[in-house]
Amino acid sequence: MLKDKRIVLGVCGGIAAYKAADLVSKLQQAGALVDVILTERATEFVTPLTFAALSHRRVYANLWEPSGEAAARHIELGQSADLLLVAPATANTLARLAQGMADDMLTAVALACPAPLLLAPAMESHMYAHAATQANLRTLVERGATIVPPETGHLASGEVGVGRFPETATLLAYVRRVLGRGGDLAGRRVVVTAGGTQEPLDPVRYIGNRSSGLMGFALAEEARDRGAEVLLIAGATTATEPEPVGIELRRVGTTLELRAAVRAAVREAVVGVDALVMAAAVADYRVEQPAAQKIKKGSAAENADGSLTLRLVTNPDILAELATDERAAGVVRVGFAAETTEVAKNAASKLERKQLDLLVANDVAKAGSGFGTETNEVAIFHRDGRVEQLALLPKAEVAAAIWDRVVPLLRARETRP
Ligand code: CTP
Repeated sequence: MLKDKRIVLGVCGGIAAYKAADLVSKLQQAGALVDVILTERATEFVTPLTFAALSHRRVYANLWEPSGEAAARHIELGQSADLLLVAPATANTLARLAQGMADDMLTAVALACPAPLLLAPAMESHMYAHAATQANLRTLVERGATIVPPETGHLASGEVGVGRFPETATLLAYVRRVLGRGGDLAGRRVVVTAGGTQEPLDPVRYIGNRSSGLMGFALAEEARDRGAEVLLIAGATTATEPEPVGIELRRVGTTLELRAAVRAAVREAVVGVDALVMAAAVADYRVEQPAAQKIKKGSAAENADGSLTLRLVTNPDILAELATDERAAGVVRVGFAAETTEVAKNAASKLERKQLDLLVANDVAKAGSGFGTETNEVAIFHRDGRVEQLALLPKAEVAAAIWDRVVPLLRARETRP
């Protein structure tokens, strides 16, 4: 989604300026066209050459450069941008932006720029907390700017406090989210489930599964990047994903907790949910009576021969229940099926039994597909009997392919009489 996007990046004179170099590199690798503008003070920390080498484009640092090029281009740069990102944004530049000043290249471009403004303040914590800085941030937010909140941690001053420049991955997620505002899921509310549920045996043990959560997280992030409001309900995940940006994340443990969260989101939402994608690997059985205390060897729970019997009872089928639930009618429902045998036959019968709009099936026994992998090879089963076999793709691309098929279903529902 970043391909050919025009991003003007303002870099201000703070110690975090050097970290903006990594941001430019990642944006450029993702295909964005990044025009970097350094404030005069930024050039004391980093050089235009650093950014020119990384962005493969000329860098602006002086509105009044003798060639006249910067002065001639500042309106066009602002007008043609898809996003104006200021990272790091210092207290001084926030004040200048809030005041609408145009005393250097960055602020002059900002005044001529109708694109969304994304600000990543980074400074010493007292400067950040000062009423003047906070008032300037409020002013900018009221005018439509989005703020990437600075992180808490070790600061260049030697103190620990709020004001740290966020990780590149966090900044990239904000960039994608802001650029995606007008996407084909804009105005839609979607619920995605991810990870695996865990059923306790006793306070320390559980029955779980090998779900990494990667597919569900990719689906949630892709929906966000297309403008949707996303609720991600996640069970246990073996992948260590950073907290997703711009996505409401709710953690659950057991299947019953997942069911309660999905039902609350889909049936009791004040604003209706448009789509539910169940990528979670749900435990079909739970221990009938988890022990209140840790099960000990030789305890009364054991059978006479030293074996232990656990009685499992069936969990409700969350998707199947929604199929006949009037309050969930109209929600586009997508299920997943992780199979090890007879993929097509099982998938088709699941789609029918759970009355799904789409079923995404994968053969978890295949290399590169299923649990814990970065890629997935899936087949998409449609209500009308069509089956599309996709190639082995990164999970982000599988997620995009799934939303590509959900979008027309959402549109079809709107035009239905
Ligand atoms: N699912 C669900 N509730 C359950 C079990 C599964 O909503 N109790 C959802 C999953 O999130 C997935 C789809 O149903 O989207 C299919 O899950 P899967 O475990 O493959 O199907 P099951 O119906 O459990 O069939 P089986 O385990 O017998 O293959």
